[in-house]
Amino acid sequence: MVRLKVTATHFQYTVAVGRGAWGGLRSLATGDYSSMFALTEAGLWHRWGREFLRASGLRLSRVIYVPAGERSKSLAQVEKTAARLAALGADRHSLLVAFGGGVVGDLAGFVASVYMRGIDYVQVPTTIVAQVDSSIGGKTAVDVEKAKNLVGTFYPPRIVLAEPTVLRSLPDRVFRSGLYEVVKHAILSGPLFFDLLERRLATLQPNRTAVIEPLIARAARVKVEIVNRDEKEADLRRVLNLGHTYGHAIEAATDYRRFLHGEAVGWGLLGVTRLAARLGVLPDDEAARIARLVWQVGPLPSMADLSPSRVLSLLGHDKKAVGGRVHWVLPERIGKVRIASDVPADAVARAFRSLQRAEI
Ligand SMILES: NC(=O)c1ccc[n+]([C@@H]2O[C@H](COP(=O)([O-])OP(=O)(O)OC[C@H]3O[C@@H](n4cnc5c(N)ncnc54)[C@H](O)[C@@H]3O)[C@@H](O)[C@H]2O)c1
Ligand SMILES: [Zn+2]
Repeated sequence: MVRLKVTATHFQYTVAVGRGAWGGLRSLATGDYSSMFALTEAGLWHRWGREFLRASGLRLSRVIYVPAGERSKSLAQVEKTAARLAALGADRHSLLVAFGGGVVGDLAGFVASVYMRGIDYVQVPTTIVAQVDSSIGGKTAVDVEKAKNLVGTFYPPRIVLAEPTVLRSLPDRVFRSGLYEVVKHAILSGPLFFDLLERRLATLQPNRTAVIEPLIARAARVKVEIVNRDEKEADLRRVLNLGHTYGHAIEAATDYRRFLHGEAVGWGLLGVTRLAARLGVLPDDEAARIARLVWQVGPLPSMADLSPSRVLSLLGHDKKAVGGRVHWVLPERIGKVRIASDVPADAVARAFRSLQRAEI
């Protein structure tokens, strides 16, 4: 197990990754809380709750369930959860434990940040996306209508406990979808991690915990390092948007129905790699290597039928666009990206169309 530290001027916390991570809750003085609540999904809790309580030694007051799926990241669900907490007697010295994927983590973090003006919370991520990305960094959010993450806060958890054993029950497609984000982290990190992932990818399966563990730890470290440097180099976190510019547009163009988020990021990585190569920013051999690794994760649902003009019109809607300008994160080589806000629209369109054609 590895223990990573997120450090900022006003707070710090540990991200424990690996088998045994749940036991890390014993290092938190839980006896000081007036009451403790878990926020989770029913199916997930029935599968793993007992094991989690045994490993963590936690004595929960109650468990609060939210329906599975992105729709739970809503203000309506925030209100319901806050009302439930109040009815169960939660006060400002209560602890909230987010046990789930990015949806539960983002919702619980947001609720914790506003309930009675802020209570402590703990992240116990149970998907790959949550273990390597969403549980780390203290960004919380809910969606408003179709605008993803429109309302949110920065609110650090007290501790993050990523136990890879819990990934065993992930459906294969959800598991693979998370791997596209791991590929993104490897591109950002550099040749050492990228090589390792190339060698191991074919062997990764939900139940092969020992093989997954070091890769999850490595990917989580990439996120921790970016978050730690971001305070000093403002906007450094933008690099995490690699593959997400086309990705978000592809998701939105299909009403979030066809692709899992990671799959859209998979297409996004392929698109931006092609774009960077065409712009002469990324050497062809590196582009080919990245594309090969993305394809190695598995088949992607088709996007051959999407209207290019619809997808392209949605690019600027990403909330990371500033003043209507799209900030592209372009790979320059494995281990280095650049942010560009002056990419010509026709180059963006051509790279997208050529990716669609390549699929057929
Ligand atoms: N806060 C951040 O910095 C940040 C970063 C990246 C993504 N996100 C957010 O994360 C969310 C996506 O997270 P996600 O991919 O984890 O989705 P998710 O939470 O919806 O989980 C995916 C699916 O897996 C199921 N599941 C979760 N854990 C399981 C387990 N161990 N076994 C079996 N099934 C399990 C869930 O029920 C769900 O159906 C998005 O809302 C995204 O905006 C936030
Ligand atoms: Zn993502």
